[in-house]
Amino acid sequence: MLLPASVLIGLLCLSHAGGVWGFARLLEDVELRSAFSVARTNSMEGGPKMTVTFDTLYVNIGGDFDAKAGLFRCRIPGAYYFSFTVGKFPHKDLSVMLMKNRNEVQAIVYEENAGEERKVQSQSVMLQLEFGDTVWLRLHGDPRYALYSNTGHYTTFNGYLVYPDTYGYQTQHHQHRPAYNSQQPQQENIHLLNNNQAAEHFRPVEQNEPQHREEEEQEEGDDEEEDDDQRSAFSVGRTQSIVGVDQVGMPQHQPVSFDTAFVNIGEDFNVTEGLFTCRVPGAYYFSFNVGKLPQKTLSVKLMKNRLEVQAMIYDDSQGEKALQSQSLMMSLKMGDTVWLYSHQREGFGAYSNHAKYITFTGFLVYPDVPPAAAAAAASTTATSSQSYADKKP
Ligand SMILES: *[C@@H]1O[C@H](CO)[C@@H](O)[C@H](O)[C@H]1NC(C)=O
Repeated sequence: MLLPASVLIGLLCLSHAGGVWGFARLLEDVELRSAFSVARTNSMEGGPKMTVTFDTLYVNIGGDFDAKAGLFRCRIPGAYYFSFTVGKFPHKDLSVMLMKNRNEVQAIVYEENAGEERKVQSQSVMLQLEFGDTVWLRLHGDPRYALYSNTGHYTTFNGYLVYPDTYGYQTQHHQHRPAYNSQQPQQENIHLLNNNQAAEHFRPVEQNEPQHREEEEQEEGDDEEEDDDQRSAFSVGRTQSIVGVDQVGMPQHQPVSFDTAFVNIGEDFNVTEGLFTCRVPGAYYFSFNVGKLPQKTLSVKLMKNRLEVQAMIYDDSQGEKALQSQSLMMSLKMGDTVWLYSHQREGFGAYSNHAKYITFTGFLVYPDVPPAAAAAAASTTATSSQSYADKKP
């Protein structure tokens, strides 16, 4: 009760346009919310109707998820994080793909194992969505496949908006958007090339861009933060398997490289190198998913800087193709690097194909607050709420 009133008074006391704009921005921040989390309480067999639907809604902020249709429809353009977990039905294979629009496969959960056991598999990626884009889960149409669930909710699907494309972002950071929007599974080989060309094409344009276009947005921005994108996110996929070999002279501890970029906001991830370099210090969320090669041991580690292991995936079962997942938050300093390492030895390996079993995602959750900004924020309520609105992903 007291806080909104004091914020309002604080804003009114600010003499310049920044105050009114800041207040509008606070309201807008509330409107820029989209999140869903749903579950399914029964199993589903592969058939003509392949869209996985849901009957339990935990969260549906913005109402963008249609549970009966099994469809998320983008209302606020931006970068969204999606994750899902599906149960494997006894004596059936499991194949569930994360789809964009009608037929664009983004990533897959797969388990080829007609055994009687029940288990779950998970996958996660970040996608750049335009207004009206849809995201859904597709179960393989063959009755050989099925997903398992019961009232214990083996099968769940989540998504939320991490970075909306809004006013400031659209004008100041438009160079990030066109490069990653038109991802097409059939054109993966040229996709990366297109991204690089697009990025190169857009950078000079931005530099030549006259400042007046951004004046309204710059008005309330901190001077030292101009040209400083406080957003950082990547989500990449690999369409080929990795097979470890014993080979003298092979460079050791090479990062896993990638060939598809779903999102690379801030361009902090070098896709061909497989290396994320921290530009904005803060707390980051990372998740990765890796397929298991039959007859090979799966050992993939999340690494920081040279050889600091942070978390790992391991599976030395004799099983068929399957998937393993891991996720972690890390506090990073500028220049820290984060990468995946797949054990580089005979007998080890990781599986992927065009459906993308191997994915790697990371994004800035909270930037570190510089001491000066923290002090300034504490001095006036208005400044503090405004900079909060600025920095909140
Ligand atoms: C990625 O790294 C490679 C090898 O270091 C380098 O040649 C390339 O220019 C980098 N790409 C980008 C987009 O920075």
